[in-house]
Amino acid sequence: MIDRLVAAAGPGCGVMELASAWSNGGQRLPDWPQFRFGWVTPTHRGRTAIRLICDLWKLGPGDDVLVPAYNCGTEIDPIVGCGARVVPYRIDENMRFCTQEVEQRITPRTKMVYVTHYFGWSHDIDELAAWCRDRCIKVVEDCALRFFREPESEGAPLVSDAAIFSFPKWFAVPDGGALVLRERPDMEIRLDRKPRALRIARNIAMLMKRRVMGGNRLPWRSGRQPALNGAHCSSGLTSGEELPDMPAEYYYDSRKHHCRISTASLRLLHRIQPGTVARRRQANYRCLQSLLTGVAGVTLVFQNLPSEVCPLGLPVLVQERPRWIESLHTRGVEAIPWWAGYHRALDWQPFPEARRLKDHVMVLPVHQDLNEEHMESIARQVRTVASEL
Ligand SMILES: Cc1ncc(COP(=O)(O)O)c(C=O)c1O
Repeated sequence: MIDRLVAAAGPGCGVMELASAWSNGGQRLPDWPQFRFGWVTPTHRGRTAIRLICDLWKLGPGDDVLVPAYNCGTEIDPIVGCGARVVPYRIDENMRFCTQEVEQRITPRTKMVYVTHYFGWSHDIDELAAWCRDRCIKVVEDCALRFFREPESEGAPLVSDAAIFSFPKWFAVPDGGALVLRERPDMEIRLDRKPRALRIARNIAMLMKRRVMGGNRLPWRSGRQPALNGAHCSSGLTSGEELPDMPAEYYYDSRKHHCRISTASLRLLHRIQPGTVARRRQANYRCLQSLLTGVAGVTLVFQNLPSEVCPLGLPVLVQERPRWIESLHTRGVEAIPWWAGYHRALDWQPFPEARRLKDHVMVLPVHQDLNEEHMESIARQVRTVASEL
């Protein structure tokens, strides 16, 4: 019986894939439905796409941007950096928002509403987008965690004004994101900086290590531990407590401004078959979900997986998350303490649901490099840790 199969946090890349991508790959984004409509710009990261939006729409001091209270912080910092004020709106414990509540927060200063689709699940934003359009307020969809859309809307024009994507969360690429604008921008977008070669090489080495590691048993070390940089998770929600800062690398590095996607990522993206990726992730999610149902101390965030949703991972709520993470890592499961740490510019006090999610969501891997055997191994390790804690 394979007991401790390594399950890396994300997909890896083999030498042959890299070599063949190098000889055959394209210089543009692949012709995927996500990029068929609107004005599409490949970017170095998702966060550089967000900063581009702020530049294009001339956001700055005096402007308000509504952002979801449950956030990573990397998507917030480029907005803070442009001088606009970020105003959070409530996200409930099921990771949904109420359109009327968002509308109530809008003032004459509001220039943009930022909506994040979580873990592959889409919000219905038609009503909000129409309401905002009537008032000349821009709506941006953050698709970093939801690459795939429902088949019937795939390839349809955006209902929002812009969408941003982040590729390394879904595919084995060293960098890359995209900005999709519904309408032609009224200034030219020029990304004249190359990403740092050393950083891209380091990321490729990490992807190759993941591929070599996958399918092995411990004692192989299971990849890099997620950087918490002092962002030790607070478990209580008492008012007045000091919240941990988010990791330093979540803050926007202005040296990456105007940076374009690496050639390596563009080439590797052309090797990917999105349909196969989506099917594998869905099958793994369903398998792991059924194996974890009823495990004491592990609460699924989403109770079922609709056929049109392609999941980023399997998010669960646990108490004592740092201990869970440590135990699972030593057992070869690279679970992620999702979005640990808090952006300093936001007032978190009015948003207990977001804080609960920030402190307790742990994501288990279901990506395309994994299979049923991995899911069984992950479930076994989760059950063991649950019985120990
Ligand atoms: C919701 C969300 N949006 C945007 C980003 C930024 O993407 P990137 O890491 O490609 O800059 C992240 C990164 O974690 C994120 O979680």
